[in-house]
Amino acid sequence: VTADLLVVGTGLIGTSVGLALRGQYDVVLDDPDAEAVGVAVARGAGRPWDGGEPFRHCLVAAPPSAVAGVLSGLMRQGATYSHVASVQRTVQADLATAGVPLADVCGSHPMAGKELSGPAAAAGGLFVGRPWVLCPSAETSAGALAAVREVAERCGAEPVVLTAEQHDAAVALVSHLPQVAASAVAAVLDSSGRPLQLAGPGLQDTTRIAASDPVLWVELLRQNAAAVAPLVRQLAEELDVVAGALDELAITPAADPAPVESLLRRGGAGRRRVPRKRGELDRDFVVVPVSVTDEPGQLAGVLVSAAQAGVNVEDVRVEHLPGRPTGVIELLVHPSSREHARAALSQAGWDVVGG
Ligand SMILES: NC(=O)c1ccc[n+]([C@@H]2O[C@H](COP(=O)([O-])OP(=O)(O)OC[C@H]3O[C@@H](n4cnc5c(N)ncnc54)[C@H](O)[C@@H]3O)[C@@H](O)[C@H]2O)c1
Repeated sequence: VTADLLVVGTGLIGTSVGLALRGQYDVVLDDPDAEAVGVAVARGAGRPWDGGEPFRHCLVAAPPSAVAGVLSGLMRQGATYSHVASVQRTVQADLATAGVPLADVCGSHPMAGKELSGPAAAAGGLFVGRPWVLCPSAETSAGALAAVREVAERCGAEPVVLTAEQHDAAVALVSHLPQVAASAVAAVLDSSGRPLQLAGPGLQDTTRIAASDPVLWVELLRQNAAAVAPLVRQLAEELDVVAGALDELAITPAADPAPVESLLRRGGAGRRRVPRKRGELDRDFVVVPVSVTDEPGQLAGVLVSAAQAGVNVEDVRVEHLPGRPTGVIELLVHPSSREHARAALSQAGWDVVGG
C-alpha cells in the first residue's frame, strides 16, 4: 500500500500532525530515536514506517539543520515533500546545496507550538485555527504546494503563503525577539539570586517561553540572526533609554519621566496590536474574575454555570494564590455579556469578585 503521509521526526510537531490527521490519512512515522516513534505510535499518531513503504507526501518535522540531509536521503519519484522548520531561508539554501529536486519540495511552518518538546507533549488540536505558513520556492511545483496545503487544512490550520524571506522577517518579530526578551528577563531573575515568592501571573506571562529548549533555539537564532539582530538591538536601545531615565529619577525624583512614560504608552499600543484569536484583539474581551476554593471541580463548575447561562467564554485563565486555599478563575468574555455573566454566576452561587 502507498501511505498518504510519511512523517519523519516524531517529536512535538510531527506527532501532533499525526494525531491531527487520525482518521483522515494513513500516516507512517519515522525517527532515528526509536523511543520517539514508539511513543508516537502508542499515542495513535500513525504506524511505524518500514523504510521501504511508498508514500504520497512526506513531512519532515526534524530540527531545521537536519531537514536537507533527511530529504536528500529520502527523495524518490512520484511523491512530494515538505518540512515544518521554524526558519525557512537557510533550509531552502541547504536544500539547493544538497541538490534536492526543488520542484517536489515546499517549506512550511505551522505557527503553533509549545515550550515543551517530544511526542509526549504532542496534541492533535495544536494547529486548530492557527496560521500555517507555506513557503514555496521559485521552483516549487503546484502539486507540492497543494499537498502541504492539504495537510495544513486537514490539521485545522489556516494556510498563509509567504516567501521564505517574508516568513523569516515576520517570525523574527513575532517569535524570535520575544524569545530573547523573555530569556533576558528570566536571566536577570536568576542572576539576582533573590527569592521570587511574590511573583504573580505577570511574571508567569512574561517568562513562560524562557523555558524553551536552548539547543533548538540557538539553532533558530543562528539561522535567522540577520533578521533578529536589528530587533534585539532596538530592544536594547529602548531599555538603555529607560535605564538612563530611571538613573536620573533615582537621584532626582523631579527628573523627567517622559522616556519611561513613552515606553509604557508605545508598549500598550504594541500590545493592542497582538491578536488573541484570529481577527480579534485583546481589547475585545473583558475579564470576569471568580474567586474559588482550591478543590477539584471548581473550574468545571464555573464553566458549566457559564454555559447554562448562555455565556460565551472566549478564554479561561486560572490563577493560584501561592500558600492560600483560594484561587481566581478569570473568564474572558465579550464586553456585551459581562454584566449578564457576572449576574448569572453570582446567582449560581459563585463568588464573582471586583466591580
Ligand atoms: N516547538 C515548536 O514550538 C515548533 C513550532 C513550529 C515548528 N517547529 C519546528 O518543528 C521541527 C521539530 O520541532 P519539535 O518542536 O517537534 O522538536 P522535538 O525535539 O519535539 O522533535 C524533533 C524530532 O526530530 C528527531 N530528529 C532529530 N534529528 C533527526 C534526523 N536527522 N532525522 C529525522 N529525525 C530527526 C528527533 O529525534 C525528535 O524526535 C523543527 O524544525 C522546529 O523548528 C517547532
